[in-house]
Amino acid sequence: MNSIEIGTTNAGNLVALPLKMANRHGLVTGSTGTGKTTTMQALAENFSRAGVSVFCADIKGDLSGIAARGDDASPLAARMAAMGRQFAADRFPVAYWDLFGDHGLPIHTSVQEMGAELLARMLKLNDAQEGALAIAFKKCEDEKSWMLTLDDLRWTLHDMLESREEVCRQYGNITAASITTIQRNLLALESQGGAFLFGEPRFDILDFIRNDAAGRGTINLLHADRLIENPKLYATFLLWLLTELFRVLPEVGDLNRPKLVFFFDEAHLLFTDAPKQLIQQIERLVRLVRSKGVGVFFVTQSPADIPDTVLAQLGSRIQHALRAYTQKDQRMVRAAAQAFRENRGVDVKAEITKLAVGEALISVLDEAGIPTKVEKVLIIPPSAQVGPISDMERRAIMDGSTDGSEVSIHAKEMRQRYGAKLAEQVAVHQFMNRMRQQRGLPIVKTASDWKEGDFRQFMPDFSSSYPPAPRRATWRGLFGWSAALASSVFLLWVLV
Ligand SMILES: Nc1ncnc2c1ncn2[C@@H]1O[C@H](COP(=O)(O)OP(=O)(O)OP(=O)(O)O)[C@@H](O)[C@H]1O
Ligand SMILES: [Mg+2]
Repeated sequence: MNSIEIGTTNAGNLVALPLKMANRHGLVTGSTGTGKTTTMQALAENFSRAGVSVFCADIKGDLSGIAARGDDASPLAARMAAMGRQFAADRFPVAYWDLFGDHGLPIHTSVQEMGAELLARMLKLNDAQEGALAIAFKKCEDEKSWMLTLDDLRWTLHDMLESREEVCRQYGNITAASITTIQRNLLALESQGGAFLFGEPRFDILDFIRNDAAGRGTINLLHADRLIENPKLYATFLLWLLTELFRVLPEVGDLNRPKLVFFFDEAHLLFTDAPKQLIQQIERLVRLVRSKGVGVFFVTQSPADIPDTVLAQLGSRIQHALRAYTQKDQRMVRAAAQAFRENRGVDVKAEITKLAVGEALISVLDEAGIPTKVEKVLIIPPSAQVGPISDMERRAIMDGSTDGSEVSIHAKEMRQRYGAKLAEQVAVHQFMNRMRQQRGLPIVKTASDWKEGDFRQFMPDFSSSYPPAPRRATWRGLFGWSAALASSVFLLWVLV
């Protein structure tokens, strides 16, 4: 299979995207209810069939059915027949992820590894506040006391406020107002569930890229119905995943088929009120991730939701109906029409508003990388179930208890890696040592390895704060706990 079949024209011609052009990115647009998610599901299935792994955010939970076989008696099967094609019900290897750990495996990283820029976006900070946050990161780096959780960030900010003069002398001017705003926004982020993102074990993005025994690519679904309630958190989280892909994957140039296709649903959230630098950063990321073998498909209502510089990077376009009621809508229709290579046989402007559900105007890149003339097509419907699966079915797939297939084995492996809840001390130990390792520092195994000054600033006995600040997780705390545990076991043994 070297192309992804998307739809057929009235004349019965097939429109397909060559696999080697899938890393030239794409755009799926259309008003609400016109078939974007269903198209995304059909594309994801075809990529999986072709051995390409996929990542999709599942905003309403309705993509979860990809793991269940479609229904031969469904209207979609009838539609296939009307298109002169055979409907073959199918199911696909799916991995469920959920930031909150309820409907999938959790995805964790550390505050330090997320970085000041993305965190500033999550915290909705202005330039001055972002500067203060960057100083907090630098200070932790210098003191080799990296931040794992939002709590760690809170205590770093607390310390900065306490010793502000000293910090200003060393790192440059920061106002108390900036720090207190970050603290306040931190509370808001936590109340929206932001804290779930930070912790151990750290998520390895390469786990998204995996094929089953039959060679099908895994479809990774991020359960996002709760996450989307905080649009900034959702958009920044997806941007972080994309950044991770860019960071981790090696440069491979143009492959015959991409390694991963990343669907960015509700993509407008990424760009609303985005500062210029962020848009530039996204444009750069999208441009560079191509040669890492990653294709990005943005899914949103109108092409006008995407800045021109990013839009220019998107080779394939699938335009569902746009309902144009207002002047603004009319402008959107004109903009959408201009985005296509002209085809005399198709009056794009007139067609866009008249398309039925599941119909679209399409232009893809051909083998030579040239956009094809716009065509009006009927989208080939998905072969798996359209709509959600039950919680019980989902649980069975996540537990790997459905059958002994490769997918189940993979699910079990992933559950072992990410499903375990680590004790705080273990998590801190693991995290600190990972950070030390990355910086070429020796790993800390016992108290004797602890270097004078390593975490000195955060020891309660050195803290000048009043009332005393709650203890931050430290190496010394860790050993203190183990010592307390050992002595109580010894005492018990003596008593018995
Ligand atoms: N290719 C298709 N063939 C047949 N029916 C389709 C097709 N695409 C969509 N539909 C029908 O239209 C309904 C709505 O589609 P879908 O949920 O994909 O729209 P959407 O554009 O994602 O909407 P929203 O913006 O609300 O998320 C689906 O439940 C499905 O029944
Ligand atoms: Mg949708």
